[in-house]
Amino acid sequence: MLTRALVIGATGQIGYELVPALRKLYGVDNVVAGYHSKKPSGVLLEGPVEQVDVSSRESLEAVIKKSDFDEVYNLAALLSAAGEKNPQLAWKVNMIGHYNVLELAREYGFRVFWPSTIAVFGPTTPKYKTPQHTIIEPITMYGITKYAGELLARYYVQKYDLDVRGVRWPGIISSEALPGGGTTDYAVEIFYYAVEGKPYTCYLREDTELPMMYMPDAIKSVIQLMSANKARLKLYVGYNVSAFSFTPRQLVEEIRKYIPGFKVEYKPDFRQAIADSWPKSLDDSVAREEWGWSPDWTFEAMVKDMLVKIARKLGKKLDIEE
Ligand SMILES: NC(=O)c1ccc[n+]([C@@H]2O[C@H](COP(=O)([O-])OP(=O)(O)OC[C@H]3O[C@@H](n4cnc5c(N)ncnc54)[C@H](O)[C@@H]3O)[C@@H](O)[C@H]2O)c1
Repeated sequence: MLTRALVIGATGQIGYELVPALRKLYGVDNVVAGYHSKKPSGVLLEGPVEQVDVSSRESLEAVIKKSDFDEVYNLAALLSAAGEKNPQLAWKVNMIGHYNVLELAREYGFRVFWPSTIAVFGPTTPKYKTPQHTIIEPITMYGITKYAGELLARYYVQKYDLDVRGVRWPGIISSEALPGGGTTDYAVEIFYYAVEGKPYTCYLREDTELPMMYMPDAIKSVIQLMSANKARLKLYVGYNVSAFSFTPRQLVEEIRKYIPGFKVEYKPDFRQAIADSWPKSLDDSVAREEWGWSPDWTFEAMVKDMLVKIARKLGKKLDIEE
């Protein structure tokens, strides 16, 4: 049977790579890339696109009505740093948008993927190997909306028997679309500076350890969770998923193995306090148990692959064996 899917927030860092991955599985014409203020470009234009504002029920329903969607991937959000600049809009997009998708899922019967984040954790959460179930007292609007969103999604699963699934991603590193305003954005930006031969100013302290994941594993987590046997799922949303952790200093040292002269200075800004409130590593045993999660990429392999891809993108020559 053909699956029809809508990806909301398709022009973002993750949507830009999830849309082609889903089109490979379901067929190009069966995956609609939903965009908002940022116009779709590149690979997204190889298939159907629709403008959709997730915070407006009317806008969302107009798109839902046009097609008989089996699945909706709601990636629309204001992330941690962007959310602190405009908390009111973050509430509207992250919370009301999520509610609109769940309400329409109740009426139209589609399955939902909706990601949460390590930003649900706060300063009182244990920092190392943070368990699935632990103290959760987020301090950002982003974290507050995502934790409330996890509870809301689980409510719809219990009350209305909806099929809503999702993970708690750490910082995602990728080479295609640029990140859109998170606290872990440095770990993507830094590669562009390194490859261009420019010095980089990092907005986090050099010893700030955070959990991260390479995009191919993030995409794998979506596809694996969405295709998991429903009977095995207990949690449905907010699964901790983990790959590796590193500090800015460790990332710089790894990049210098390929670009020895790379210069970096550290000038922490408001994002330092956000990063300090997050875990340094995650326990993802519940995801492993319930739907067989495991990552493929190591830190070292990710750094090498990012350098190769960013160099190709910028038309620069680096002496790296592929
Ligand atoms: N990138 C990460 O490191 C990371 C980590 C954890 C969780 N996540 C989650 O993954 C999802 C996608 O994140 P991302 O990094 O791709 O974010 P992003 O900021 O790159 O993209 C967000 C997208 O949402 C769209 N959008 C904003 N307002 C909208 C509205 N009203 N209606 C429809 N679309 C709207 C934007 O145009 C953009 O395309 C988010 O839910 C985020 O919380 C991301």
